[in-house]
Amino acid sequence: MNPAPPHPPAPERAATLRGRRVFVAGHRGMVGAALVRRLRARGDCELLLRDRAQLDLRDAAAVDRFFAAERPEVVLVAAARVGGIEANRTFPVEFLEDNLAIALHTLRSAFRHGTARLLFLGSSCIYPREAPQPIPEEALLTGPLEPTNEAYALAKIAGLKLCQYYRRQHGRLFHSVMPTNLYGPGDYYHPQHAHVIPALLRRFHEARETGQPRVVLWGTGTPRREFLHVDDLADACLHLLELPDPPDWINVGSGTDLTIRELAELVRRVTGFTGEMVFDPTRPDGTPRKLLDVSRIRATGWAPRIPLAEGLAATYQDFLAARAAGTLRE
Ligand SMILES: NC(=O)c1ccc[n+]([C@@H]2O[C@H](COP(=O)([O-])OP(=O)(O)OC[C@H]3O[C@@H](n4cnc5c(N)ncnc54)[C@H](OP(=O)(O)O)[C@@H]3O)[C@@H](O)[C@H]2O)c1
Repeated sequence: MNPAPPHPPAPERAATLRGRRVFVAGHRGMVGAALVRRLRARGDCELLLRDRAQLDLRDAAAVDRFFAAERPEVVLVAAARVGGIEANRTFPVEFLEDNLAIALHTLRSAFRHGTARLLFLGSSCIYPREAPQPIPEEALLTGPLEPTNEAYALAKIAGLKLCQYYRRQHGRLFHSVMPTNLYGPGDYYHPQHAHVIPALLRRFHEARETGQPRVVLWGTGTPRREFLHVDDLADACLHLLELPDPPDWINVGSGTDLTIRELAELVRRVTGFTGEMVFDPTRPDGTPRKLLDVSRIRATGWAPRIPLAEGLAATYQDFLAARAAGTLRE
């Protein structure tokens, strides 16, 4: 399936952020906060921000009232119910329902109230479990999904497709980005439901603090994963919003991967834990490998700038600062 069929020319107004009213849905999340940092650094657009208490994106009527009142010109959909393998396995109903509702309500109201440009954040889990590696955009809907996060993946595929249909049927420039696994400041550190990097940072840190001789890690350590710092992703999103005719969906990643064991070794070094690492193979590994083909976005002139080791060290400092300030998300 080719994500880049020809399209009617994009309305000129949508090609840039300058002077626009920009709504970042999910601005308090890890990705949303990184987008706000970048947009504030640009300083050339008006930000519209609402947290969940002010605007629950599962409430269709409230979302429509917000769009009718504020009429955002550009929208970044970074709001979602997100979590690690354990959370996805435990709460499939909420992962499908919430993420479907967030996508449907924001896209429909954006269309109804004249939003010129919208970028929807999906995830690399939309691709089949046995997709060729590195995974090209064309692998979408070519095979069964990874069962441990199927609910979340289905909702993201629906969001991606709805963007494509609004563009094809109404010429509205709604498009999507498929990031690889992300990490960075403001991540979520729940002991069971966090993604692998925040889970490892917390576990090694607490083991060092309490003088434990070893740390037990989930799975076999052999799956290979790709990681991208969230600030690099935010740059890629703003870069894509400046392209006059972007693909319907596009992969964003670092283009390199490593085993979970190698990652754990890096995190152990960053946290200064000197004890033993033990893998528990009774816990799920998830898909064996997930490396994105990023040649398409590279061809548009974007490249990541934050090496993994450097990003992990900075993220550990952010974790320590959030703990000290009592603002750790968990
Ligand atoms: N993290 C990754 O590794 C990764 C990888 C690939 C793609 N992505 C994509 O990036 C996007 C953001 O992920 P993230 O890591 O930034 O997640 P996150 O840190 O959990 O942020 C999600 C944000 O969405 C908000 N939200 C959730 N449900 C909402 C609702 N019903 N109404 C209003 N706000 C709601 C949350 O609000 P609260 O603060 O109130 O909870 C939170 O601020 C998602 O679309 C995800 O698919 C993430």
